[in-house]
Amino acid sequence: MSPAECKIIELPKIEDPRGNLSIVEEDNHIPFKIERVYWIYDVPGGQVRGGHAFRKQQELIVALSGSFDVIVDGGMEKHKFSLNRSYYGLYVPPGYWRRMENFSTNSLAMVLSSTRYEEKDYIREYEQFTAFRNKHKQHI
Ligand code: TYD
Repeated sequence: MSPAECKIIELPKIEDPRGNLSIVEEDNHIPFKIERVYWIYDVPGGQVRGGHAFRKQQELIVALSGSFDVIVDGGMEKHKFSLNRSYYGLYVPPGYWRRMENFSTNSLAMVLSSTRYEEKDYIREYEQFTAFRNKHKQHI
């Protein structure tokens, strides 16, 4: 799996009349080791989360419950991914500006991250993001 692509990963789903079960294994279903897990919940209607890029962090974003949209921007073009199933994850490599919006009531967003929290990995200014993309064009 190319680490440079932003894409939906379909996770295994074990269907069972007692309730379904899904799985994610590091370096197997996703191309990175999981250093951190966080989740976003109780999002009031109309709120937007994210709105930044990462220099190194790779992530998998999963709508464990409810639905929301993730808009990813690679500098040249934007793409909207609507997440509404707990067995689909959006893989986001480093160097994508991404924001999350249109959260449904009671939605639960889980983020698996390849790094621990490090503020200096964030690019929070869009102009810095474009400069970063231009500088690392061949590598991301
Ligand atoms: P942030 O990632 O900036 O979220 P958003 O882009 O949606 O605003 O995180 C919000 C705050 O939470 C920020 O002050 C940093 C803190 N935070 C941590 O301390 N550890 C973490 O793992 C994360 C994701 C955020």
